[in-house]
Amino acid sequence: MKKTMLLILFCWLSVYCRAQTQTDPKAIKEKMEWFADAKLGIFIHAGIYSVNGIDESWSFHNKKISYADYMKQLSGFTLKKYDPASWADLVKESGARYAVITTKHHDGVAMYDTKQDNLSIVKAAPANRDMVKPFFEELRKRGIKCGAYFSLIDWSHPNYPGFLKDSSRYAVQKDYDRWNNFRTFFQGQITEINNMFKPDLWWFDGDWEHSAEEWEAEKVRHIILSKNPAAIINGRLQGYGDYNTPEQNFPVTRPPFNWWELCMTINDNWGYQQADQNWKTPYEIITIFADVVANGGNLLLDIGPKEDGTIPDQEVNVLKELGAWNKKHAEAIFNTTGGIPAGHFYGPTTLSKDSTTLYLFVAGKTSGQLMLKGLDCKIDEISVLGNGAKLTYKVVGKISWSPVPGLVYIDLPDGVQDKYMTVLKLKLDKPVKLYRGQGGLK
Ligand code: GLC
Repeated sequence: MKKTMLLILFCWLSVYCRAQTQTDPKAIKEKMEWFADAKLGIFIHAGIYSVNGIDESWSFHNKKISYADYMKQLSGFTLKKYDPASWADLVKESGARYAVITTKHHDGVAMYDTKQDNLSIVKAAPANRDMVKPFFEELRKRGIKCGAYFSLIDWSHPNYPGFLKDSSRYAVQKDYDRWNNFRTFFQGQITEINNMFKPDLWWFDGDWEHSAEEWEAEKVRHIILSKNPAAIINGRLQGYGDYNTPEQNFPVTRPPFNWWELCMTINDNWGYQQADQNWKTPYEIITIFADVVANGGNLLLDIGPKEDGTIPDQEVNVLKELGAWNKKHAEAIFNTTGGIPAGHFYGPTTLSKDSTTLYLFVAGKTSGQLMLKGLDCKIDEISVLGNGAKLTYKVVGKISWSPVPGLVYIDLPDGVQDKYMTVLKLKLDKPVKLYRGQGGLK
């Protein structure tokens, strides 16, 4: 009897623990659903580096500036025009369904009211306020999911081994007590962020400096999920995250992951830098975004506010233009799946979830005949999204007794195009079927 009770307890405990750290694929799939449908997130790198307009944390690490001079920026970080409601409005207007904000970058400066030490903009900068809390509140009022960027690396902490690029404080293996001390500190910060803000998503960074064992990555995952089981964790936790995060680089072929997210800057830096005027245009952002979604991913588009809390005009403009385009083309973007394999159409494509509607994205000022290869279903109707125009098409090369479906030529006239990217909606007679054979009778 006692044995049976023990066995039941053991089984229950193992199921419970599994759910807590969530290694169960079904549970992960469920919690990833909103993320898969979201497609667009806004990344916010706000920190003291915006005072001088230099590389976030990396500038002192790479010795472009001394550590002392870097930290002097604390006294210039005011957030005096910070309006979290207008930030959240802008995120909403862009069409994004989530936002991720820096709670602490590699420089160790907490952007919220940490109780673990005094290095925060609340205690050590004239801002004298928590930047994260009111922003999350405003996001939640608008139904936008809240993400916390958290750097595992903390080059300011006296017990963190790494510091400047060619010097470190100590080696973990040689002073485990000291490392343990740092671990208690950073896990304490994760716990307080988790308790205070309940992020829907955790965006870790800097895991490359230590192994999963050294960070205690499994425990970190457990700390988060035992309190907030629905939280999503990005892939920078040495194998304990939920999705992949290619950075700046657009994957050439479709990434083989269930979930992935391209994080990308609007100019060439994460944080605000006056000198960097290499802004991407709305056209560039929209074409990148469509390509990401067509390849089954999300775009996490970064903005870098100034020290006073205002967002550069160029970024506001890009977000607004992207938002207007998203509004017009929402049905081809949100709640869709990645499109048909490359090669059938020279451009991005997406599919409705039941795959009976195929969306074709046509860049720029294209007009004339567009070709679609290997579509093995009937097209009921082709229209231009947001414009309503119905388009004509013809099928060439279809012989009645052969399985070859022929090529579809769609006529795209002038005057129906979007100024950035036009989307054609193809209603199919059944879920999309593709012909990828050799031709003839095969
Ligand atoms: C990097 C950098 C960092 C930036 C981040 C955003 O890994 O270390 O500065 O915050 O990417 O993805």
